[in-house]
Amino acid sequence: MNIKGKIAIVTGAGSGIGRETAIELARHGCLPILVDIDEDRLKEALVEVLKHAPDATGELCDISKDTQVRQVVQKTTERYGRIDILVNNAGIMIVKLLDELSADEFNKQMSVNFQGGVNFILAVAPIMKKQGKGVIINVASVGGRLVVPGTAAYAASKAAFHAFSESLYYELKDSGIHVGIVLPGGTRTGIFDSTNTKLGKYYQSQCKTPPAKAAKAIRQAIEKERFVTVTPSSYKLLIEFHDFFPGFFSKQLLRRLRPYFK
Ligand SMILES: NC(=O)c1ccc[n+]([C@@H]2O[C@H](COP(=O)([O-])OP(=O)(O)OC[C@H]3O[C@@H](n4cnc5c(N)ncnc54)[C@H](OP(=O)(O)O)[C@@H]3O)[C@@H](O)[C@H]2O)c1
Repeated sequence: MNIKGKIAIVTGAGSGIGRETAIELARHGCLPILVDIDEDRLKEALVEVLKHAPDATGELCDISKDTQVRQVVQKTTERYGRIDILVNNAGIMIVKLLDELSADEFNKQMSVNFQGGVNFILAVAPIMKKQGKGVIINVASVGGRLVVPGTAAYAASKAAFHAFSESLYYELKDSGIHVGIVLPGGTRTGIFDSTNTKLGKYYQSQCKTPPAKAAKAIRQAIEKERFVTVTPSSYKLLIEFHDFFPGFFSKQLLRRLRPYFK
């Protein structure tokens, strides 16, 4: 899809990958609608985006709440007449071993990372179907394919979102809607900021890639209508290695991470 002049909803646009994606799309001629749960960060991100896309807007919304999502989608279609692109990016990450994980935390992880994305798709897909065209990019995670300890809830939410997206890719193709999946790995953002476990802090220290890299990969996934994108691409090899040698991989991983369990 040529993104020039296109209307793009980007969720989780207040910080990290979402913020960089909104800026990246704006710099390439797109008109982003920034969606986030954090008002201050949303305003700050919008200031940056407005430098490139003067008609961009920000919408305060908790993506796990269906009524709020529908309001954003309705407002956007009333204002712009269409929605060309949806980047389902907002997410949270809970890093806890099973003994520390509560049912509420598990439900929250699923309701933001999985249900939140589904809410937006259910609201936007009928509009794109009517248009006969649209691109939906769902941000899953390398962490949903290369599953590590302490991320049972997070990995489950991302694996579910990946599977959901893969099925929709086939289902929606003939209605002119492209569904792409982007899997970032180890990106330096605020997603670990509320993590206070030893494992979480270790994972945070391993996240070194700047979010602009994932943002560029998301833009290219939209433009080239790619099915699955792994970013940085070095993680692709790691996923393949894991799939070919799961026994060897898991033994090495356990040896390396066991010291962080306590
Ligand atoms: N960073 C990585 O290494 C990495 C790797 C793989 C995949 N990802 C995925 O990439 C996506 C973006 O993550 P990020 O690293 O950029 O994290 P981030 O910097 O924390 O950005 C996520 C944004 O989403 C917002 N958000 C959280 N819950 C929301 C809700 N219910 N409704 C609306 N907005 C909400 C966050 O607000 P608050 O800050 O207030 O929560 C934050 O502004 C996530 O889906 C994440 O799982 C990240």
